Formats: sequence, C-alpha cells, structure tokens
Amino acid sequence: MTITLATMEDFDGILALHKIYHTDYISPEDRPNGFVTTNFTPEQLEALITQERGVTIAKDDNGRVCAYAMAASWAFWAQWPLFTHMIQHLEEYSLGGQTLSEENSYQYGPVCVAGEHRGTGLFEKVFYFSLASMKSRYPIMATFINHINPRSYAAHTRKVPMTETGSFQFNQNNYYLMACPTSLTQN
Ligand SMILES: CC(C)(COP(=O)(O)OP(=O)(O)OC[C@H]1O[C@@H](n2cnc3c(N)ncnc32)[C@H](O)[C@@H]1OP(=O)(O)O)[C@@H](O)C(=O)NCCC(=O)NCCS
Repeated sequence: MTITLATMEDFDGILALHKIYHTDYISPEDRPNGFVTTNFTPEQLEALITQERGVTIAKDDNGRVCAYAMAASWAFWAQWPLFTHMIQHLEEYSLGGQTLSEENSYQYGPVCVAGEHRGTGLFEKVFYFSLASMKSRYPIMATFINHINPRSYAAHTRKVPMTETGSFQFNQNNYYLMACPTSLTQN
C-alpha cells in the first residue's frame, strides 16, 4: 500500500471510492459503518488536488485508491454552507488555549477507507500523512463529525487522539467540532 498526495491521475479512483460511501449512494448495509456527506463537483475536486494540494490517498499494488483524506483552507471550503457556518463560529472554539481562526487552522475531511481495509491501521496512516502534509501551513487541524456517525467518532478519538472542542447544530444535524495540533505524529 502506498500513501501519497493525490495527483490528477488519481481523480477517477478517488471519485469511484467517494461514490460508494457518499450518503446519496451508500448501501443500507454500509451506512452503519459511516458515510461521507460532502459532495464535490469535478472542478472542486480538481482544485482540491491541484491548488490546495489537499488530498491524501492510499493506493494498492494495482493502483486502486483504497482510502482518501481531504484537507483544505477554510477559504476553499467556504463554498459549502456547512463550512460557512463553521467559519462564522470558529472563534468560539479553542485548542490548548489557542482560539481557532481561519489563519491558524484548516479543515480536514471527508475521510474514507474502503470497507475491506477498515480496522487494519490504514485509517491512522492516511490521517497522519494528511496532517503532516498541512503542518507547514497551519498549527491546528479542525473537523466536524456528525453525531450519527459513531464509527468516525470512535476512530478519531480512539485510533487518533482528536479533541472534542464543542458541538454545534446545522440543518437539523448535530455535530462535534474536533481539533488537534498538526504536530501530532503516529507512535
Ligand atoms: C471512519 C473511517 C475512516 C474509520 O476508519 P476505520 O478503519 O473504519 O477505523 P477503525 O476500524 O480502525 O476504528 C473504528 C473504531 O470504531 C469501532 N466501531 C465500529 N462500528 C462502530 C459503531 N457503529 N459505533 C461505534 N464504534 C464503532 C470499531 O470497532 C473501531 O474500534 P476498535 O478497533 O477499538 O474496535 C471508516 O470507517 C470509513 O471510511 N467510514 C465511511 C466513511 C466515513 O464515515 N467517513 C467519516 C466521515 S467524513
């Protein structure tokens, strides 16, 4: 398995994985193990890969994309209403005494590991690679987790040590606002 930053060569593989686990397409059997809610136009995914340099992927020996983690500046995410809401409330949250801002933090997620690779440690590898790829740009990573995605919450608190800095509501959904320093490394 290779963990790397995605290039446009990986575009189709990322989209193929995204479509299996996005809430609009996911099967009823897969849904209890988590789902992705953010959707992308082809132009947005291209900008995420090329301009934000924000897509970490895991590829198997056949070149198949088995996992991805997205990460980008708040300026990029501001195109989605949920993120606009988060940006407006960012300064209500803090990590280690530091108030979150558009300058000192970025947004990570969605993240997705193909079903057959879950629970193998691949999630942690992709997570830490993504974190390291943003470290020179930001000291803090922030994300949201839907209360009805307990597997994602378990992974982000037990497999990697993210801190729950608060909760918020948007469009009748309840979310945890999570954060961690980008200086975290895998033991
Ligand atoms: C979220 C995700 C990336 C985590 O990766 P993963 O490889 O599944 O993570 P792990 O299996 O290592 O860890 C998840 C933990 O949650 C536990 N878990 C599984 N189902 C659970 C549930 N319904 N409720 C609570 N915990 C659950 C697992 O048992 C595991 O803990 P354990 O190893 O201590 O038993 C992956 O499940 C995924 O891609 N899900 C679909 C997309 C998604 O939900 N993305 C997040 C939102 S963007």
